[in-house]
Amino acid sequence: EEIPLELHKVRVVQKLHLRPVEERHRAMEAAGYNTFLLHTRDLFLDMLTDSGTNAMSDQQIGAMMVADDAYAGSASFARMQDAIRDVLGMKYVLPVHQGRAAENVISKTFIKAGDVVPMNYHFTTTKAHIDINGGKVLEIYTDEALKIKSAHPFKGNLDLKKLEAVIAEYGPARIPYVRMEASTNLIGGQPFSMQNLRDVRAMTRQHGIMLVLDVSLVGENIWFIKQREPEFKNASIRDILLEFCSLSDLIYFSSRKVSSTRGGAIATNRQDLFNRMKDLVPLYEGFLTYGGMSVREIEAMAVGLRETIDDTIISQSPSFIKYLINDLDSSGLPVVTPAGGLGAHIDARGFLPHVPQTEYPAGALAAAFYIASGVRGMERGTISSVRDENGNDILADVELLRLAMPRRVFTLSQVKYVADRLKWLYANRELIGGLKFVDEPKVLRFFLGRLTAT
Ligand code: F0G
Repeated sequence: EEIPLELHKVRVVQKLHLRPVEERHRAMEAAGYNTFLLHTRDLFLDMLTDSGTNAMSDQQIGAMMVADDAYAGSASFARMQDAIRDVLGMKYVLPVHQGRAAENVISKTFIKAGDVVPMNYHFTTTKAHIDINGGKVLEIYTDEALKIKSAHPFKGNLDLKKLEAVIAEYGPARIPYVRMEASTNLIGGQPFSMQNLRDVRAMTRQHGIMLVLDVSLVGENIWFIKQREPEFKNASIRDILLEFCSLSDLIYFSSRKVSSTRGGAIATNRQDLFNRMKDLVPLYEGFLTYGGMSVREIEAMAVGLRETIDDTIISQSPSFIKYLINDLDSSGLPVVTPAGGLGAHIDARGFLPHVPQTEYPAGALAAAFYIASGVRGMERGTISSVRDENGNDILADVELLRLAMPRRVFTLSQVKYVADRLKWLYANRELIGGLKFVDEPKVLRFFLGRLTAT
């Protein structure tokens, strides 16, 4: 058996609670069948997200103690800038309080009404910011991307033929940039290859179109390139990451994910792009040397970025996810393969064929799994989608229950518990019915919406 070894030891712990099933049932009802509305006091394992919930290293905590408190010109910011230059290869840095704040600044600066933004796949907040600025997301993924069961190593690749067609149809003037998400969050944490990025770079450059990388989950994407793209088998994570970022005009990230802490940033080597964006940072975020973050977060972020290029650190989450996915897959449960980054993704349509997509199978599965296990996952399906102009749900391409694997947080026995409870629930899947909204927010409804059993 391939056992993913923890290459770290636990030195600070937090007590967890495993409530009786009746209490979990009541808690889920009180939360309107939305796992975002549960309280951590009612959770055993919190697999909602890897965002801001990763374990910190001793080095990160240490660095937080020597942070340089200053509104302007903080040495902490200089250290973060150095880390971004060394690890991601970008010299101009705009700090922001988290990933969606970067999306706000980028969308406000570059998108005008009627524009289109082609990308391998959207993320919820990305799409919301593009929409609000009058743009439209065009998803040009490959045929492999949405297949639940696949052996394709790079389901996050962008389809070059479709990109060519989009450029021919809209023209470069209406395409402010092409966006590549490394790795693709909503379709199972699936990476794209360096070769795909090189090809996209060549095509966008030929037409003078900017290329933007969302590198919120880049560590895992780089890890998969090393594992799955033969050319990079013996390359260092550091070199792969530098080449990867160098193939773009602009990168941005949520460092709640990539460097295991909080905050975010936009970075580029193009001074013209930096100058176009920079005035929005003091307006929305804070001064140019803190961008809405505390200096302690900035220090932890700098150390976390440097730790991203350590194989023993960046491999942890993907190897645990792979262990869980392989176990579930070999037991016949419907899961997204190959295992990706971020978390294990369960195919709710395969799990609950009797629940129609209009009754939100992924949401129903997330709620049921919490009741059955005390484990909190996240709905990544039609509840996370939006309605069209006639008020009908735009059905999501995939209905997934995402069980995030925050970096270095859980032990293997906890992962085995997750597998055991999922197998039990699968054997008893006819117990699970559908959901409908009783309170539905207009924007990003999945965060605060409340539902009930149909
Ligand atoms: N881009 C990607 C690929 C993300 O996964 C996220 C956040 C963001 C941008 C936005 O960053 O949350 O710091 O504002 N993903 C989290 C998740 C929320 O749970 O998947 P943020």
